[in-house]
Amino acid sequence: MSSDYIAPNIDISDVNLVEIIKQTDRAFLCRARWQDKDCVLKVARGFCERGSVPDFYGVVENIDPEVKGWQPDLKEFYDRTFPQGLDPKARPNGVLMEYIPGVNVFELSNYTEQRAHKIQQLLTEIHEAGIVHLDPYPRNMLVQSDSDRVLWIDFELAQIFDPENPKHPRFFDDESLFMSAFMEALVICQS
Ligand SMILES: Nc1ncnc2c1ncn2[C@@H]1O[C@H](COP(=O)(O)OP(=O)(O)OP(=O)(O)O)[C@@H](O)[C@H]1O
Ligand SMILES: [Mg+2]
Repeated sequence: MSSDYIAPNIDISDVNLVEIIKQTDRAFLCRARWQDKDCVLKVARGFCERGSVPDFYGVVENIDPEVKGWQPDLKEFYDRTFPQGLDPKARPNGVLMEYIPGVNVFELSNYTEQRAHKIQQLLTEIHEAGIVHLDPYPRNMLVQSDSDRVLWIDFELAQIFDPENPKHPRFFDDESLFMSAFMEALVICQS
């Protein structure tokens, strides 16, 4: 994606809910259909426009909690996450992205050396692109069970490298160190 890429702005009424993947008071994730595509819509507290590794279709802005076709789930999520008394005008955004079938979080049961290497390499590439993930835990590393595809997801906290931010070089280094330690631990647990 080039830096002058402008994400399409998608209308929630053009997206159809298929099934809920998970709901917490922080995030609402569901499978959805949009223009004949199998998608994931993630609506989260404080979502901004961010890079994403699953194919990125666009942002869904100012979602009306009472929109037809999304009830009662979306309204319940809003009521839990954005109490009306606190912010009656809350209209968070969502990100619509590719649905990847057959994914699991990366763990010992699906560990292979090749997957571990690719996941680490992908993080290096994300860093080289000037992005620090800031939530680099196994729950955000996915592997597809019947392919060699591995992914990083959940860029909600990610930041673009800012040369003016004195904390940034450290963030990148810490994340790389954490990743190396995690990979070493996996190798030890394997043997
Ligand atoms: N594009 C996708 N395709 C298929 N499944 C996905 C996709 N994105 C997310 N998921 C599923 O939803 C789960 C949670 O996604 P995500 O990490 O974005 O949400 P979260 O609210 O941050 O959850 P967590 O607290 O577990 O990290 C993933 O572990 C995965 O099972
Ligand atoms: Mg996550």
